[in-house]
Amino acid sequence: MNTSDFSLRLLQWYERNGRELPWRGTQDAYRVWVSEVILQQTRVAQGYDYFLRFVERFPTVEALAAASEDEVLRLWQGLGYYTRARNLRQAARQIVEMGGFPTDYATIRRLKGVGDYTAAAIASLAFGLPHAVVDGNVYRVLSRHFGIDTPIDTTGGRKLFAAMAQEMLVVGRPADYNQAIMDFGALVCTPKSPQCEACPLMETCQARTDGRVEQLPQKAHVTRVRDRFFTYVYIRFAHETILQQRPAGDIWQGLYQMPMRESERPMTLAEVEKWLGEYGRLKKLCTDHRHQLSHQRLHADLYLLKAGHRPSMDGDWINETQFDEYAVPRLVEELLKCVSRNF
Ligand code: ADE
Repeated sequence: MNTSDFSLRLLQWYERNGRELPWRGTQDAYRVWVSEVILQQTRVAQGYDYFLRFVERFPTVEALAAASEDEVLRLWQGLGYYTRARNLRQAARQIVEMGGFPTDYATIRRLKGVGDYTAAAIASLAFGLPHAVVDGNVYRVLSRHFGIDTPIDTTGGRKLFAAMAQEMLVVGRPADYNQAIMDFGALVCTPKSPQCEACPLMETCQARTDGRVEQLPQKAHVTRVRDRFFTYVYIRFAHETILQQRPAGDIWQGLYQMPMRESERPMTLAEVEKWLGEYGRLKKLCTDHRHQLSHQRLHADLYLLKAGHRPSMDGDWINETQFDEYAVPRLVEELLKCVSRNF
């Protein structure tokens, strides 16, 4: 079987089985870009609503360029990787300065936050340019179908798969081809329990022949997960509470949270009392609430402090009805729910 058979069968499959998505069929580079960045964070099902809300609030690149960072972060709330949202806004400003959306791959690739994947997606979907995307789906489908062991997380692996992806591209239909292989990876050639019985490429799939579909793609490195211990305090004083903005240089830059301390192990009650006891009565609301990020496992404890006087701490004192105006990480959102259950 030659390469174009592989690609043409994917296209045939896509014509019958491709997903209907709100950004499909648009050639608007702005919408393509926003949808692709959102989909790097999340699955299609969840990304759908974020996309619709985002383009409703910011229908054009000019609207996004004019927005405040806080507002963009608020719309992004819950998606994670907030740097992507900040980059999106900054790139929108670059685009407006350039006088419009760039139409060639190299210029698109130089936009803030735009990597090889996003540049290829925009170039192909919005402008019909022959650039193959490489994402997790592409690695999986190619490594399995062609039985390739080369680890995908090495320089050599990345180069090899990028070259293969480009070779398989149906040059006359880059948008359809790129979306076909991604949908195929998401719906049929899935990471766990792939649908081999229903696969139109089963007969030529090398991994299937060798019985090692689930062993591919290979990785050279295991991702190390780090444990971190956060102790939060929700401070209540006269129907107000305090939120602090997270600094640069760590997760969730620019988002808001209750006052928090990080420690090597969970803080003991004695340590928390030493930190906060002078202000009032403490009640523990939550112990070891876990939150998983790609490389970190967070363990959160939460205390309620009923303050007898207004603590002197940096941050914004807000009325407890004002949370909507602040972008908070999902973990904090969950902890706030725990607070409201204890109202
Ligand atoms: N995943 C990310 N972008 C996609 C797209 N345009 N089509 C299918 N799956 C995707």
